[in-house]
Amino acid sequence: MGIGADELLANGAVYYGSSLGRVEGVAKHIAANLGIPTLIDLYDSPLAGAEARRFVVLAMSTWYDGILQDDWREHHAELAELDWSDTIVALVCLGDQYGYPHTFADALGIVAEAVEPGGAALIGNWDPKADPAGYDFRRSRGLRNGRFLGLVLDEDNQSGATDERIRRWCDQIRRELSERC
Ligand SMILES: Cc1cc2nc3c(=O)[nH]c(=O)nc-3n(C[C@H](O)[C@H](O)[C@H](O)COP(=O)(O)O)c2cc1C
Repeated sequence: MGIGADELLANGAVYYGSSLGRVEGVAKHIAANLGIPTLIDLYDSPLAGAEARRFVVLAMSTWYDGILQDDWREHHAELAELDWSDTIVALVCLGDQYGYPHTFADALGIVAEAVEPGGAALIGNWDPKADPAGYDFRRSRGLRNGRFLGLVLDEDNQSGATDERIRRWCDQIRRELSERC
């Protein structure tokens, strides 16, 4: 018998890097919603081991005009070297669409591009046009065929939309995991 979605979540982990604490808050919120017991702050914990799990959430933010936040930047090369072929990966990215409309949530694309060659199965992509609050930006490396490669949140400008976005996305993650079990 295959492993169920609940078990994937119970053995999963949320890995995050956060400079001002916004990603950290979101990571905790998502872990609580999904019932993921393990939160790992890349500031003082290794990334290695993530690829040994069947399911992980990777949560990041974009800094310095389209660059990874510092803790993720430290692990960028490692992200691309790990073998993700047994791991289902869901991505969450914070950005500021009004302040940085040409590099909005670029970190999402940077992390996706790093783990995909290693075999990561990405779930949880997100249609910006289907979002009730909507997004307003010019360009994002996190977009592919009109969809974000994971959940995109803007705590700088749309913090009021965050709870609902997380709720809908977590429901989507549970559905997608169940389909794979
Ligand atoms: C100096 C600086 C550069 C930033 N560059 C970008 C950017 O290029 N794209 C973007 O979407 N957000 C950018 N942001 C916004 C952050 O991603 C956003 O504030 C995020 O919520 C920070 O989360 P954290 O403090 O948990 O790392 C930048 C913020 C600062 C202060």
